[in-house]
Amino acid sequence: MSDIQPEHIVVVMDGNGRWAKKRHLPRVAGHKAGVNATRKIVGNCVNANVLALTVFAFSSENWSRPQAEVSSLMTLFVTTLSAEVKKLHKQNIRVRFIGDRLRFSAKLQQKIKDSEELTADNTGLQFNIAANYGGRWDMLNATRNILAKVHKGEMRVEDLTEDSFGEQLSLADLPVPDLFIRTGGEKRISNFLLWQLAYTELYFTDTLWPDFSDNDFKLAIEWYRGRQRRFGKTGEQVNDSSNLSQGLA
Ligand code: FPP
Repeated sequence: MSDIQPEHIVVVMDGNGRWAKKRHLPRVAGHKAGVNATRKIVGNCVNANVLALTVFAFSSENWSRPQAEVSSLMTLFVTTLSAEVKKLHKQNIRVRFIGDRLRFSAKLQQKIKDSEELTADNTGLQFNIAANYGGRWDMLNATRNILAKVHKGEMRVEDLTEDSFGEQLSLADLPVPDLFIRTGGEKRISNFLLWQLAYTELYFTDTLWPDFSDNDFKLAIEWYRGRQRRFGKTGEQVNDSSNLSQGLA
């Protein structure tokens, strides 16, 4: 059993569409309600002293949704950033985006840049928004960077290790995620941080993202605390080393 706090939490915020449908509202109303739930989990992470929170706001695959939904999501991103970033900055939160931002409109790219620049020196919660992100894209991008380095003679093929590969991925300066939360009932990773999730504890809940409450956050943290993180070792080895570190063995 571990009683430690997750340092890095990542979230697939699923279920906005179904939340809206249940209320006979357009899907975008679900995404708007989803923004409120995102604000709430940011507050919970700040209160719980979590180091980093990474949310999946828009996947590389989401472009294939109906054009009207994609464009209302883009508008929502711009309005949300305009409305929220100053408040995040006041709370010493650093905002960063991961993913291929070049496909976004010039206006959204500018908002992203402004948000990152304004909050760049903040030392509180590291809040990362994955937008036009995919885990496979991340790994391809890392591979391209490495090949370019090899081509320029800055790196030798023999120097490629898990560590040097990992350094080229998004969020390489943060600890890998401890806890993955997916709302909305599906049990999939959906091309989120594929490399980084190798040893992450995976938590799935049927709660739809707009309904994800303070209590749901607490339940996820309690579930995490009940997990035994083995990193490939046996349960006995983990228990022995935890007894040793507590002076019990
Ligand atoms: C998945 O639910 C949700 C999305 C694709 C969008 C999530 C975006 C937000 C909550 C806005 C956050 C904004 C910022 C700037 C952080 P779904 O539409 O797939 O739901 P369904 O499975 O019920 O159809």
